[in-house]
Amino acid sequence: MRFFVDTADVAAIAELNDLGMVDGVTTNPSLILKSGRDILEVTKEICAIVSGPVSAEVVALRADDMIAEGRKLAAIAPNIAVKVPLTWDGLKTCKVLTGEGFMVNVTLCFSANQALLAAKAGATFISPFIGRLDDINLDGLEVISDIRQIYDNYGFETQILAASVRSANHVTQCALIGADVVTAPPAVIKAMASHVLTDKGLEQFMKDWAKTGQKIL
Ligand code: G3P
Repeated sequence: MRFFVDTADVAAIAELNDLGMVDGVTTNPSLILKSGRDILEVTKEICAIVSGPVSAEVVALRADDMIAEGRKLAAIAPNIAVKVPLTWDGLKTCKVLTGEGFMVNVTLCFSANQALLAAKAGATFISPFIGRLDDINLDGLEVISDIRQIYDNYGFETQILAASVRSANHVTQCALIGADVVTAPPAVIKAMASHVLTDKGLEQFMKDWAKTGQKIL
């Protein structure tokens, strides 16, 4: 399973990238705001660190404007995936930009039918938002599972990029379902390393080691 990191925080991306944990990056307008950086500058910096796909999102709402923004974002680096919302204009933009050879990530997906349309429009990635579905008492993981089955039924090559991932358990469940990629905030990726029994076991080893009076270095 590939891990994308869902942030525009360059230092956090670099830290995880050095550990081999980053296969790509996703950003969105809210994450650009949080970074306090200029979108073109910070995206260029991220693309220089990470060799995999880096999603940069358009902000126009009409297809013609989205296409123009998408071309400008795609010119930043060869590993840009242009992120477009799952609206009718976003689907038109997806069709045009993938036809020009660009990677397109269709975002703000909340249903299997939306994902089916994105695949028909040639999307490279579909981003179903698990956490935001859970927030309104729907089952985000069930949507991932439905999309997996539909794409497999018909051989669609669009990759399922599970997004709005809020917990380490979301990552486990996405891996079990067979999502192609998970994008998660750095804190969630780090939380995957934690286990209460690891902490407890280490504490006991340290106590016993101190009693031996030995040193390794
Ligand atoms: O990439 C966008 C998505 O991951 C947003 O997550 O937590 O704001 O719903 P969240």
